[in-house]
Amino acid sequence: MSLEAIKYTRGELRILDQLKLPHESIYVDIKTSKDGYYAILNMVVRGAPAIAIVAALSLATELETLRGKLSEYTARGIQDYIEKALDYLNTSRPTAVNLSGAVTKLKAAVAKEAAREGSTAQSVVDVYQGGAEDMLDADVADNRNIGNFGAEWLLKTIAGKEKISVLTHCNTGSLATAGYGTALGIIRSLWSSRSLVHAFCTETRPYNQGSRLTAYELVHEGIPATLITDSMAAAIMQMKKVDAVVVGADRVVANGDTANKVGTYQLAILAKYHGIKFVVAAPTTSIDMKTAHGKDIHIEQRAWHEVVKISGPRVDEIVGDRLALDLKHIHTVNTAAPGIGVFNPSFDVTPAELIDAIVTEKGVGLKDAEGKFHLDALTTILN
Ligand code: MRU
Repeated sequence: MSLEAIKYTRGELRILDQLKLPHESIYVDIKTSKDGYYAILNMVVRGAPAIAIVAALSLATELETLRGKLSEYTARGIQDYIEKALDYLNTSRPTAVNLSGAVTKLKAAVAKEAAREGSTAQSVVDVYQGGAEDMLDADVADNRNIGNFGAEWLLKTIAGKEKISVLTHCNTGSLATAGYGTALGIIRSLWSSRSLVHAFCTETRPYNQGSRLTAYELVHEGIPATLITDSMAAAIMQMKKVDAVVVGADRVVANGDTANKVGTYQLAILAKYHGIKFVVAAPTTSIDMKTAHGKDIHIEQRAWHEVVKISGPRVDEIVGDRLALDLKHIHTVNTAAPGIGVFNPSFDVTPAELIDAIVTEKGVGLKDAEGKFHLDALTTILN
């Protein structure tokens, strides 16, 4: 059974609590946009596409509970209500562009309906909910295309190998999206076409999306995989264990510079040094054509305490290659010297010059002879 981070039917939104993974699979109810805001802010749900979808659906769910009271609103009145809630949701996390893109798109659809002669609060809510629900459906289909395009391009490009090994960073799978995943979607596609030798995932400090979430997804899918700490990436490349690095994106700007989980940039430098392909996999909803350069991306700074602490169940015993865990007691321990200063940017920016391909649901974007990406042309298939 595939993992589902987001369970939605009209009027009911439940999300898998990613803070509890991999030890517990608990779904939490999201009834309002406020619930959605805090779930995103506190990383109960995370990953650029999933953040946008949960934000949009949290408001869709809140609006469903207003159905009985919609006669109290005009079409313009409910438009105002929706816009305020979307603006609020948009402040939850700043770096991933999918959220602000979804907000802009939903606001435009709602404004159009509210301005239509004969529209009602009911019809405006219908348009909002339809738009938010379409985002959920489109994301899974887009990810399957990303997976297939990316796998096909890698196999064609890495000469002389029918099967390859890849390294990935952070979590870009079913848990970060509506399903299937982006960079992890490429790994899934390679695996399902029997073209994957091995997947390596980094631990991804400080939030451990790699060891907690990607490792969980890889084990769940039965994909041959190995976890490394972030500091082991250079060593495994030097040992020639990796043919390509595939990562996701929180924001790809017009020139191809890409913001993704902190640590992505160092992997791109390492890949270049070792002559390994470096691929960014992201839906076109992660592309921000309004920002020209990566230096203009707002990088989210997170709390200092995320860096100095680590949480998990108590280890009772080491039994062979397994740990006997006491799942009833989740502990948080401090790993740093008290008083040390901390810097905790959640993302970094990989310059376009270090990226070989940007894979979207439309195809594989490559650079021209002058080394430039043409992301505006991604409405046509570039594969
Ligand atoms: O802080 P997070 O966990 O939301 O960061 C997630 C990432 O950086 C992912 O790589 C990115 O959002 C792509 S998810 C398909």
